[in-house]
Amino acid sequence: MKNSKKRILSGMRPTGKLHIGHLVGALENWVSLQHEYDNFHLIADYHALTTNLDTNDLYQNSIDMVIDWLAAGIDPVKSPIFRQSQIKEHTELHLIFSMLITTSRLERNPTLKEQARDLNMETMVYGHLGYPVLQAADILLYKGEVVPVGEDQVPHIEITREIARRFNNQWGNVFPEPEPKLTKFARLAGLDGNQKMSKSLGNTILLSDSPEEIQKKMRTAVTDPQKVRRGDPGRPDICVVFSYHQKFNPAEVPEIRKGCESGALGCVECKKNCATKIADVLAPLREKRAKYENDLNSVKDILADGEKRARAEAQLTMTQVRHVMNLGELEDYPYVYKNIPSKE
Ligand code: TRP
Repeated sequence: MKNSKKRILSGMRPTGKLHIGHLVGALENWVSLQHEYDNFHLIADYHALTTNLDTNDLYQNSIDMVIDWLAAGIDPVKSPIFRQSQIKEHTELHLIFSMLITTSRLERNPTLKEQARDLNMETMVYGHLGYPVLQAADILLYKGEVVPVGEDQVPHIEITREIARRFNNQWGNVFPEPEPKLTKFARLAGLDGNQKMSKSLGNTILLSDSPEEIQKKMRTAVTDPQKVRRGDPGRPDICVVFSYHQKFNPAEVPEIRKGCESGALGCVECKKNCATKIADVLAPLREKRAKYENDLNSVKDILADGEKRARAEAQLTMTQVRHVMNLGELEDYPYVYKNIPSKE
């Protein structure tokens, strides 16, 4: 049953083990919102198909992602965790929604254009063009009112709002118009200096990385190219390591800035310190993660329970949708029988 708290629908594509960019950009936010809101957490496994048809790793990637969600503090008792593919109502609502938006509107979506450019896609499958339509079904099936997302997802949420409006005008008021809730932190830069930390760029620190792995990866991090050795003054504001300190080691930031700018602090030492601080922040997550990894049945139980609860909500919404659309069972429509014209 829906309580008086506002409903949040948050989702991620199952890309496998998560990295510290996910933690900073999304997960911490999800965790802090779960008390104030009524949350549903969706694993967008159908959405993963828009860019990758190889489904061999889909299940394992979903499990790995759920373990990271749990390790970061998502409470599955409060907030159901579920796979999109296990709730058939997503496909049903997606089809209905696909009648409410034009192809040219979808082609104007900047996030999709950017993705096509990044992946060097020459053509796009029909389902990929409909990515935000499926996302609208994800959100509205659970009557999500608030959607925590990064900047790049705002165009998708705008499409969700348009679809909700059009549905309500056409058939009856079933859906809220959800609001995006932007995450506070900008995206975390990758170790290679790329603006975005991302699995496909291979510039990540994973939540599951050991302290040794974090030290090793940190050694590869790109710093100010003008600071070649200790003694050279550096520019912290263009250094990714400094940006990690800002997030994971705020107490020492003024001191590190001073040391870097004066040259007294060398990059090697600065990186070591940074890696240690990140490993410390991740220590409790790593511990929780290991617990779930050694007890995969509990993860499966969490999913099974979440999928049951999500399905119940989805079915309720679809009953309303079918009702306002006059897509009822035959017994709902006695006139169907009464009005059969006689033969003669
Ligand atoms: N498009 C989102 C992303 O790439 C994933 C997603 C799918 C989603 N369905 C959603 C996010 C519903 C929020 C709500 O990150």
